Amino acid sequence: MNFPLFISTYLEEALGKAGFASVDILSQIRASTDSKFGDYQFNGSMGLAKEAKIPPRKVAEKIVEFFALPEFLEPVEIAGPGFLNLRIKPQWLAGKIQEMAADPRLGVLQPAKVKTFVIDFSSPNVAKPMHVGHLRSTILGDSLARTLRFFGHTVITDNHLGDWGTQFGIILYGYKHMLDEEAFKREPVKELARLYVEVRKLFKTAEEIAKGVVDPVQNACRDETAKMHKGDQTNLELWRKFMPVCLSEIDLIYQRLGVRFDYTYGESFYQPFLNKVVQDLSASGLARESEGALAIFLTEDSTPALVRKSDGAFTYMTTDLATIQYRVERWHPDAILYVVDSRQSLHFSQLFQIAHQWLGQQTRLEHEAVRLAKEVYQAAYHQEGETQSKESLEDLNRVGEVVGIGAVKYADLCQNRTSDYVFNWEKMMAMEGNTATYMQYAYARNRSIFRKGGFNPDDYRNSSIPVLLETAEERGLALQLFRFEEALTLSLVDNKPSQITLYLWDLAKAYSVFFQNCPVLKAPNEEIRQSRLLLCDLTARVLKQGLELLGISVLEKM
Ligand code: ARG
Repeated sequence: MNFPLFISTYLEEALGKAGFASVDILSQIRASTDSKFGDYQFNGSMGLAKEAKIPPRKVAEKIVEFFALPEFLEPVEIAGPGFLNLRIKPQWLAGKIQEMAADPRLGVLQPAKVKTFVIDFSSPNVAKPMHVGHLRSTILGDSLARTLRFFGHTVITDNHLGDWGTQFGIILYGYKHMLDEEAFKREPVKELARLYVEVRKLFKTAEEIAKGVVDPVQNACRDETAKMHKGDQTNLELWRKFMPVCLSEIDLIYQRLGVRFDYTYGESFYQPFLNKVVQDLSASGLARESEGALAIFLTEDSTPALVRKSDGAFTYMTTDLATIQYRVERWHPDAILYVVDSRQSLHFSQLFQIAHQWLGQQTRLEHEAVRLAKEVYQAAYHQEGETQSKESLEDLNRVGEVVGIGAVKYADLCQNRTSDYVFNWEKMMAMEGNTATYMQYAYARNRSIFRKGGFNPDDYRNSSIPVLLETAEERGLALQLFRFEEALTLSLVDNKPSQITLYLWDLAKAYSVFFQNCPVLKAPNEEIRQSRLLLCDLTARVLKQGLELLGISVLEKM
């Protein structure tokens, strides 16, 4: 249950009756960090006090005076400067746990309005090694898709592959000038990667170019790309030859991560639409000629966004505009979420403004910016010829697939999406701590209780077993279980799966305290034993479901 949302209507009424201005009540209701302060706290009195020009404590007293105490709450306490401590009655909580146990959706309600989301994520560049930003985008985007789907929304996942870019000019040049045919026959992807790296080495540095040094190789690569874009037969045939081998390599990564896409419409897919898009943009007056190029000036003094370069080539922006138009016309989404590297923030902010002006549509466009890695990691990654993330994935061979993949995903997801990321195997796989390994272990140990006692977990998935919350530890665990929906909702507010990991960690801790203090198989009597088995089974189900939303599997035995 989403308790803050539920209780906010009661508080709103009290606030209204007490004559206070309406505030954002929901954001002021928090789960208490210490049970001393109840289960939830309302922290809005301080803000209201400023406006009403009376002390916060007085505000709190007035709210309590007008608060029609619902039967599921203990009398409200006022603490400190004016916090309201809300404490749920154990019987009511026990009833909610019983309902949850009987519900395959674990108490998570479908939203009143089902929405359609397109999620653009992963989107690596074909024929270039995937970097850690793509890996993060893949893991995060997949988790967002799973969570939105679990709520009952319609989700379309689309992998916007970079399959038409200048990297092809580089491998086309390499293929024509420095191919090792035998190597290409044996291991085509490896040979293409080698060509990419070798050709890049021939490029002049940025400083040299700034000094006016000519760069024949880079120019030749550019020509190869341009020829391909213009429909040159040889280059297109080579592109068709390279694509499947490159894609099968990328697919291996998705398979191991357990990630799949509804669509993989890469940049090449939109090429047939680009002429029309550009015509439209200039006919509507949005784009105009500027130094031979076609540009959109969002404000007179900001850098314009080019939709056609002076050499006639279309841009990343042009393709992205065509993509939005296509998605809107085909799926009519309420929102399109882009899970992409934060370095592209400027691109997306321009893209969204242009799209809204051009199509005038109501679709929400959001950039879920993903930060890359700490400099240390980035440096290591560049030195090793941009292959670090691939190698790290290969390391996974050495450890259990489920545990290893879970560890990587969890470590990534429990970071704030916009914080830096350091790769640290030891920390990621720690048995104690906020890691997937710990959650998986807690799950497996939980399952072994049922095997050991000869109990069938299915027998605890109905509402006929009385739930007894007599000890603080049982109550503490029940309260965490009860918060599942609330945690999932929070994770969708800012599209941050870290809210789910945070919740799972609290749940795992509450479970461990319960387990240490409340004997299950050796409970004092049969009634308590049944109730504790139910709490155990529900914990296992919530852990499993929560991990599944992160794209992480569990094992029945470890
Ligand atoms: N291929 C791009 C890159 O690796 C990311 C694409 C993101 N999606 C988009 N619609 N622009 O930088």
